Amino acid sequence: MATAKKVASPGHGILAMDESNATCGKRLDSIGLENTESNRRAYRELLVTTPGLGEYISGAILFEETLYQKTSKGPSMVDVLNKQGIVPGIKVDKGLVPMANSNNESWCQGLDGLAQRCAEYYKAGARFAKWRGVISIPAGPSMIAMRDTAYGLARYAAIAQAAGLVPIVEPEVMLDGDHEIDRTLEVAEATWAETFKYLADNKVLFEGILLKPSMVTPGAENPNRSTPEQVADYTLKLLTRRVPPAVPGIMFLSGGQSELEATMNLNAMNKSPNPWHVSFSYARALQNSVLKSWQGEEKNVAAAQQALLKRAKANSMAQLGKYDP
Ligand code: 13P
Repeated sequence: MATAKKVASPGHGILAMDESNATCGKRLDSIGLENTESNRRAYRELLVTTPGLGEYISGAILFEETLYQKTSKGPSMVDVLNKQGIVPGIKVDKGLVPMANSNNESWCQGLDGLAQRCAEYYKAGARFAKWRGVISIPAGPSMIAMRDTAYGLARYAAIAQAAGLVPIVEPEVMLDGDHEIDRTLEVAEATWAETFKYLADNKVLFEGILLKPSMVTPGAENPNRSTPEQVADYTLKLLTRRVPPAVPGIMFLSGGQSELEATMNLNAMNKSPNPWHVSFSYARALQNSVLKSWQGEEKNVAAAQQALLKRAKANSMAQLGKYDP
């Protein structure tokens, strides 16, 4: 509960930097860099050593490689984060695989051996965990996929808590599709109903989890775009209907929104008081401009760190409902 509270503290959010090696490779490729351990390390080192990052960021989600990695200067990534006052976390799921007899949907692997891995990650300094299940709206989400996503999240959450890690529960309703915003609300309501039912059945302590959902928006390919006020209205309606106030933090993912959209939508949600800490756990919406500024060049590190601080500060202000573009 103390860890969850620390991560969900006013004006703070999470830096998601837990891309798998394959996904990190795609990000590096976008700036013409090879997907090697040393390039991944250089990039992650740039992120965690950004001076003053802890003023806006309270937690960082790492991929296993980074949890055990040292920076080029010697101290481990975990030590650097702790010095910044940022709680280290770890992605513990083993990724998505096709689900037989579903509508071409996926299920999330990683429960086998999870208790032992969580114990090792705790020893290595992790204090929270993340597991991501996905729901696809264009697939016409099937009940078996939705239920499996929810049940997997609940089993994982119970195991993580038993190991002393705060579970981030991430039922991501993906943005893909041309559906209207009402359809997103409908699917998310069904998904969250299942998720909280199974969390309760599995005796997960709600005060000791963080929820990482997607915001309620129209599908990415829908030409009708919503204003931040509409997104806030729909998303808060969903939170009110489905999430007990015992859950200390709602840490939204960015899911392919632009950096500015993600900040504006978060700001709109925090314009009026709500019972939760409504904040961010962004990867792309914090890192896109960092990568562009960096380009893999040592001489650009300071500028890239400034780009990260700029996004982190903007989202910190948005957490407080005080962002002014
Ligand atoms: P995005 O913010 O890029 O969607 O990533 C967040 C994340 O960690 C997804 O699991």
